[in-house]
Amino acid sequence: MLQAKKIGYRNSGKWLFRNLDLQLPPGEVVGLSGKSGSGKTTMAKVLSGYIQPAEGLIELGGESIVKTVTKVAHPIQLIWQHPEQTINPTWKLSKLLEEAGASDDYLMEQLQIESQWLSRYPHELSAGQLQRFCLLRALLTNPSYLLADEATAMLDTVTQLKLWKLLLKLAEERGIGILAISHDSYLLDRISTRRLDFSKLAD
Ligand SMILES: Nc1ncnc2c1ncn2[C@@H]1O[C@H](COP(=O)(O)OP(=O)(O)OP(=O)(O)O)[C@@H](O)[C@H]1O
Ligand SMILES: [Mg+2]
Repeated sequence: MLQAKKIGYRNSGKWLFRNLDLQLPPGEVVGLSGKSGSGKTTMAKVLSGYIQPAEGLIELGGESIVKTVTKVAHPIQLIWQHPEQTINPTWKLSKLLEEAGASDDYLMEQLQIESQWLSRYPHELSAGQLQRFCLLRALLTNPSYLLADEATAMLDTVTQLKLWKLLLKLAEERGIGILAISHDSYLLDRISTRRLDFSKLAD
């Protein structure tokens, strides 16, 4: 179980959210929506260890994980709303993939990633291709949880549904808990076992 306990975060002295509580059981797909600018992406960055909360605790299996794990192999992987913000633009895809672990032909095929892309730089892919590559990289680290922040918004409907079908399968088979953050209510209704409203999670 992933639990956020009364976490708070502030930007330039102003609280963005406080007393935020969240529980994500393994294998569950939770759909989170909420107003633009309310702090969903910031919360996802806190949960996945990119930034530290000003207060509160994040626990995985009952143990605090704040400051205890490295980013690359973090058990809570964030699929970024803007994938280009998270990867080193001067590294080729092959090198970016090496960080994550052994490759997986099944996942490459399911995510429709072509092996020739590996000799390219990130800016030599389309936004949707880069997002699928980032998803591969996250999955290769065998995460316990995936935080998908508008992860499929730039994909066409067919690719989007195919990708979610894969993620739901992995959630079930590997017990990966997924937090799907999106403004697309129709999508969240189709994929989630539970829906949450960000404004109700925190003060
Ligand atoms: N690095 C930063 N420094 C200062 N303020 C920031 C920073 N990143 C985000 N913010 C501000 O924090 C607030 C929350 O942003 P966040 O990206 O978490 O919202 P969101 O709920 O994900 O919005 P959206 O639905 O549009 O993706 C916004 O007011 C934003 O302008
Ligand atoms: Mg956001």
